[in-house]
Amino acid sequence: MRIVLGVTGGIAAYKAAELARQLVRNGHEITVVMTKGAEEFIRPLTFASLTGRKVITDLFSSASPDATLSSAVEHIGVAREHDLLLVAPATADVLAKFAHGLADDFLSTLYLAFDGPVVLAPAMNDRMWSHAAVRENVAVLRGRGHALVEPGDGYLACGTVGPGRLAESEKIVAAVEDALRKRRTDLVGQTILITAGPTREPVDPVRYISNRSSGKMGYALAEAALARGARVLLVSGPVNLQPPARAEVEQVQTAAEMRDAVFAHLFEATVVIKCAAVADFRPATPSAQKIKKTSADRTLELVPVPDILAELGDGPRNFILVGFAAETENLLDYARRKLEGKNCDMIVANRVGGDGSAFESESNEVLLVLRNGETIPVDRAPKRVVADHIFDQIVKLGK
Ligand code: PMT
Repeated sequence: MRIVLGVTGGIAAYKAAELARQLVRNGHEITVVMTKGAEEFIRPLTFASLTGRKVITDLFSSASPDATLSSAVEHIGVAREHDLLLVAPATADVLAKFAHGLADDFLSTLYLAFDGPVVLAPAMNDRMWSHAAVRENVAVLRGRGHALVEPGDGYLACGTVGPGRLAESEKIVAAVEDALRKRRTDLVGQTILITAGPTREPVDPVRYISNRSSGKMGYALAEAALARGARVLLVSGPVNLQPPARAEVEQVQTAAEMRDAVFAHLFEATVVIKCAAVADFRPATPSAQKIKKTSADRTLELVPVPDILAELGDGPRNFILVGFAAETENLLDYARRKLEGKNCDMIVANRVGGDGSAFESESNEVLLVLRNGETIPVDRAPKRVVADHIFDQIVKLGK
């Protein structure tokens, strides 16, 4: 397999040489990407000698104008050509960059363009490792489904004893082999149309009716599908999220626009997942001008918008149809009614409102409701992990 080994600037950087050697011995092709900080601790030549391959050290090469252009897009090529991204040692800095999507060097840029399995082996001072900022970044990265090889306890370079030492090479190599084994390609050849986020129904040029959907669940589905080899068409309402690399995205505002976008791409889809929180009603006559506080009419007349899921379920089809049900009560009962009423193959039922609401949160807990009467509970987990459970069922439905 082809593995990128990202080496970042910590005292444990020298241990990455042994790691590279073990991975090469296991038959892998290793491309080492070093950050500027890593070069302070170990020379690229060491890795070039161990791997027999060029070591990447910079986002922009200054060798020639042409080289600059090709280097500027090289991270995309490297992302496409490799099966796994391992970062060892991973400093607090690189964890923060990955968690927040900063892209100011080759490794962080590569990360954003990479949609395969990621294994991170952090190493840092024990106080840094236990700092809330690092804990939160680690939680975000785990939430994306990345494997974290916990640092070990022991004597640290700063003279203290505690957790923060880079895990033993054998442990990191085992995590890499495990992630490669689990690497799933069961959605290769599928085109998955996913709707995500809320819709906005205009009241006037400055106001609208909408809901609390952040798009996190839908975007997690898109990430999971891409990681398993699918082509993803993402029809997204207005959200503050960066769409996953390689998703083909169409941005919409209203339910009517979402309906048009879905039906425009339907002929390509083998699976449709309606995760978006679509409005049920819209103002009958949106005002062309801002409605004044002094306006005599304080009543908003609402009319129903198209029920996209019901329309998709109406009549014969050659795609798997998955709907969501967002309920504040009677979760299973309402989900079954939606399964029947909207003629879906599966409903993903989740609770909204109150503690543990599916809206806006990083995690979710769902019931998968199937046509054969089966219901499969998925315990609370990061949305990216829940997304994989949903695809496990979709794969079974397709067999
Ligand atoms: O975006 P997040 O903050 O991560 O939150 C995730 C979520 C709560 C939005 C998501 O998990 C979810 O439950 N999405 C469906 C929300 C919803 O609209 O549920 P509903 O029970 O009102 O609708 C049932 C189904 O009909 C849904 O698949 C919906 O997309 C679809 N529908 C609804 C109305 C409409 N006009 N057209 C539709 O297609």
